[in-house]
Amino acid sequence: MTEPHAEDEERRDFLQLAAGAIGGVGAVTFAWPLVDSMSPSAEVLALSSTELDVSSIKPGQAILVKWRKRPYFVRRRTKPEIEAAEKVDIASLREPEADKDRVTKSEWLVVSASCTHFGCIPKGAKVGDDRGEFGGFFCPCHGSHYDTSGRIRKGPAPRNLPVPPHNFVTDKILKIG
Ligand code: FES
Repeated sequence: MTEPHAEDEERRDFLQLAAGAIGGVGAVTFAWPLVDSMSPSAEVLALSSTELDVSSIKPGQAILVKWRKRPYFVRRRTKPEIEAAEKVDIASLREPEADKDRVTKSEWLVVSASCTHFGCIPKGAKVGDDRGEFGGFFCPCHGSHYDTSGRIRKGPAPRNLPVPPHNFVTDKILKIG
């Protein structure tokens, strides 16, 4: 049986979007000139970004958020996790990508939470989750291992976890989209 305080800790460590979001609608307040019939509608633009207060996430913790109805991990990496991601020889990777090209701040990893094999949500956000052989994320559906940069390192997934457009509006406000 799980200890009550362990459940609390797990809940705290696995914050859902509602807890961290400060607004599901981004700062898209301008009128989009309809000069191009292919331009997205104002409604689509209004949902095109989300802002999150990430200040309560501690190093080593992650949250799962939704943006455009898709799940994403926001993970605050520890120093060893950052070092592990940076020292990888990218020539050895299935999809060669440098860690610095996947993050806007080395402490923060923002990646899709859909395995690039068949779309399961990998483990690695909750405390105690199996993070796989490379310390990032592990997809239990068919055994794909991702590293601390969300890059595929072992298993059937063909690609790295995609990085959505994101940036920090302030030190603690992350904008995705
Ligand atoms: S869906 Fe992740 S390994 Fe198959």
